[in-house]
Amino acid sequence: MTARLDNDYTDGARAHAYSDLRFLGTYHLAFRDLPALFARHVRGVRALDFGCGAGRSTRFLRDLGYRVTGVDIAAAMIDEAQVHEPHGDYRRLPRGDLSALAGEQFNLVLAAFTFDNVGGPQEKVAIFEQLRGLLAPDGCIVTIVSTPELYRHEWMSFSTVQFAENRVAKDGDLVRTVILDIEDSRPVVDTLCGPQAYAEIHARAGLEETELLLPLGRGGEPFAWVNELWIAPWAIRVLRPLR
Ligand SMILES: C[S@@+](CC[C@H](N)C(=O)[O-])C[C@H]1O[C@@H](n2cnc3c(N)ncnc32)[C@H](O)[C@@H]1O
Repeated sequence: MTARLDNDYTDGARAHAYSDLRFLGTYHLAFRDLPALFARHVRGVRALDFGCGAGRSTRFLRDLGYRVTGVDIAAAMIDEAQVHEPHGDYRRLPRGDLSALAGEQFNLVLAAFTFDNVGGPQEKVAIFEQLRGLLAPDGCIVTIVSTPELYRHEWMSFSTVQFAENRVAKDGDLVRTVILDIEDSRPVVDTLCGPQAYAEIHARAGLEETELLLPLGRGGEPFAWVNELWIAPWAIRVLRPLR
């Protein structure tokens, strides 16, 4: 059974701390390869940032030239996004219900770390089905999720050493990290979901995985990598409707 996951990001102090995050350290690896990936897969400029948080990923898309709408379930995160970008298109949605976006079509849907924070397979499938329905013809979904290894190792931007239970966690179990790049050291709680579980979820939602990136750090980058040179902390997938 999948444990219940509450959203950490409804907390104002957490949202404010998260709002300071940039593209440094381990996070660099989540964003470094996206411009080239988008160039290979995305035609058109209309984008949805699903789980936009404090707008870091939304502004990233905007700076690449996308006309982007950011949506999130956490009002505190949307408030932070609007502080950074008062005229940005940010909308709060009810959990699991994207019907407010009906009639809109997106060339790209980005979900950056969002599915780490969504509960079990049923909830994930239901959301992916709705996202699939929002794609323009030839549109695609790009997900960035934590690999299971993220929760079992130390990183430049994360520590997991105090969470022994992470090492034996199975798909659907809650796992914890502490983000080292922000002042708020309270654990972030995610749901573990490995590659096989994601493959089943995507297939059930009528999506196929057309590219997978497992980015590693490189020597010469201006970061004090810990395990990032050998172990990939993130999995980046391009998803398209099954034909
Ligand atoms: C780790 S933050 C990432 C924020 C942003 N994408 C970034 O890269 O900085 C994950 C976000 O997903 C949001 N989220 C979680 N479940 C969601 C859902 N079912 N629908 C929309 N957003 C959700 C959370 O509220 C949180 O703001």
